[in-house]
Amino acid sequence: MSAKTILITGANSGTGKAAAKQMVHHGHRVILACRNMEKAEAAQKEIGGNSRIAELDLASRRSVHAFTDWAHQEFEEIDVLINNAADFNLSKKEREMTSDGFERIWFTNHLAPVLLTDRLMDRIIASPQGRIINVSSKGLLARPFQTVEVEDPMFGKRPFTPAAAYYQSKLAQNIYTIWLAHQLSGTMATANCIRVTNVKLNMSRHPELPQWMKNLYTLKSLFSIAPEQMAETYAKVALDPDLKNISGALIDHPLKRVPFSAYAKDPLCIEQVMNLTYRQLGINPSISFEEAM
Ligand SMILES: NC(=O)c1ccc[n+]([C@@H]2O[C@H](COP(=O)([O-])OP(=O)(O)OC[C@H]3O[C@@H](n4cnc5c(N)ncnc54)[C@H](OP(=O)(O)O)[C@@H]3O)[C@@H](O)[C@H]2O)c1
Repeated sequence: MSAKTILITGANSGTGKAAAKQMVHHGHRVILACRNMEKAEAAQKEIGGNSRIAELDLASRRSVHAFTDWAHQEFEEIDVLINNAADFNLSKKEREMTSDGFERIWFTNHLAPVLLTDRLMDRIIASPQGRIINVSSKGLLARPFQTVEVEDPMFGKRPFTPAAAYYQSKLAQNIYTIWLAHQLSGTMATANCIRVTNVKLNMSRHPELPQWMKNLYTLKSLFSIAPEQMAETYAKVALDPDLKNISGALIDHPLKRVPFSAYAKDPLCIEQVMNLTYRQLGINPSISFEEAM
């Protein structure tokens, strides 16, 4: 397989870092797009090989713009984009707003990955077989009534809980994947979503968590898989030649295709969520189904 250019957000830690390591090991060029450059440098030292670091804070629109401007200068083609980073600090008591005026979890986990993907779309389409991989959560299975509140996605009028905000953002990523795969259907590029299962977290990264939550995570870790295991699914979805025609799929570990919820597949819901997304971003989609055809 020829060397690919692979961009992974939040690759300084957990599954993103493990995936970067595996892909570099297989001879690919991996860009670790991270918000904290000290952590990024430490990760890059550990990963070595053909890895590079670049600054990207998904809670900042300006940072997404600066990063994509840089990526345009550096790369003619991007073969794989993995929207892996996420804000899932479940100890937040109140909603936090970004400097651009968005609820932080909604922006970081949904709006920013859409903006990032959109601004890199020409480079992904330029690849012989570009792959966009979004990342969702198996935890949505425990929330069968989860919706994307299109009238109030940022908890302006309803009580905020970090879990509701997090799962709303992950559901929106599922919906985005279905929509994006449709938009890309006349091209060689694909869009899929990985449903991440219960993966061991490095608790030293989360000193802010209250003790009861640390205990809960410690208990959960007994049933967790290692980031390295989850990363194998990332690597396959990113690189396996047999998957080149798979698009619009939700993929669980270990490489198991699973259905999206009826809510995520509902055409009206997709239209409402994607209209909201682009309206909030204040841009038009860079690729549309009609254009792709
Ligand atoms: N672990 C699980 O059990 C689990 C379950 C379901 C889904 N997931 C999903 O799996 C993905 C990977 O998570 P993980 O388990 O590897 O957790 P992790 O080790 O905590 O990694 C999360 C990464 O996201 C980065 N990040 C957070 N906010 C960011 C921002 N504003 N801009 C740029 N990067 C940001 C973090 O950077 P810093 O190091 O700077 O904080 C970190 O690199 C996430 O999408 C998560 O939602 C995980």
